Amino acid sequence: MRNGFFITFEGIDGSGKTTQSRLLATLLRDYGHDVIHTREPGGSDGAEDIRRLLVEGDAGRWSAETEILLFTAARRDHLERTIQPAIAAGKVVISDRFADSTRVYQGAARAELRSTVDQLHDLMIGREPDLTFIVDMDPETALTRGLARQSGEDRFEDMGLAFQIKLRAGFLDLAAQFPDRCHVINGDQSPASVSGEIQTVVEQWLS
Ligand code: TYD
Repeated sequence: MRNGFFITFEGIDGSGKTTQSRLLATLLRDYGHDVIHTREPGGSDGAEDIRRLLVEGDAGRWSAETEILLFTAARRDHLERTIQPAIAAGKVVISDRFADSTRVYQGAARAELRSTVDQLHDLMIGREPDLTFIVDMDPETALTRGLARQSGEDRFEDMGLAFQIKLRAGFLDLAAQFPDRCHVINGDQSPASVSGEIQTVVEQWLS
């Protein structure tokens, strides 16, 4: 059995990726894998502390440049403390968001800072997932869903619909840049249909 691999879920706010990443974790556990389900920003004690700085408060609290540094600092801790040790121990790591979110949110949608994001990634992270699912869906539906949750973590949702539309385009561009690992899944269908599509891709990849 293939072990020690890294799968990520990406998409705009409210796209349903959290539900889907959890369903995949359950499926892979049923197949006998030792699975860690984690998330960004967060996924380790230090990164969860940084998360609160990023997702709470006013939309204008940080510049895009400062956000890149904070997200990368959180990711470095997450990688050192959670992701790398788990993969080295032969576990499957499923992360709800990873570096693609920085490429799209800070590198393309908030500002055109993709080369800054890439340089910092090469210096401090230097790791890509083996497989990435981009859950694609209508930004208006997703935003309504995201805001309805009233999570108190709405800093990015508060940037509005035009921002979510830019994000969607950014994720689709990104999928075209990394065609080997990125799979775009239509999120505008029932959760069971979405998870069925994901299952098919994972089973093919595992075989
Ligand atoms: P998340 O907890 O995935 O929120 P949601 O469940 O609403 O999708 O992520 C928190 C927010 O942080 C989300 O709005 C996306 C944003 N984000 C970035 O802007 N850059 C990043 O690198 C990451 C990881 C997240």
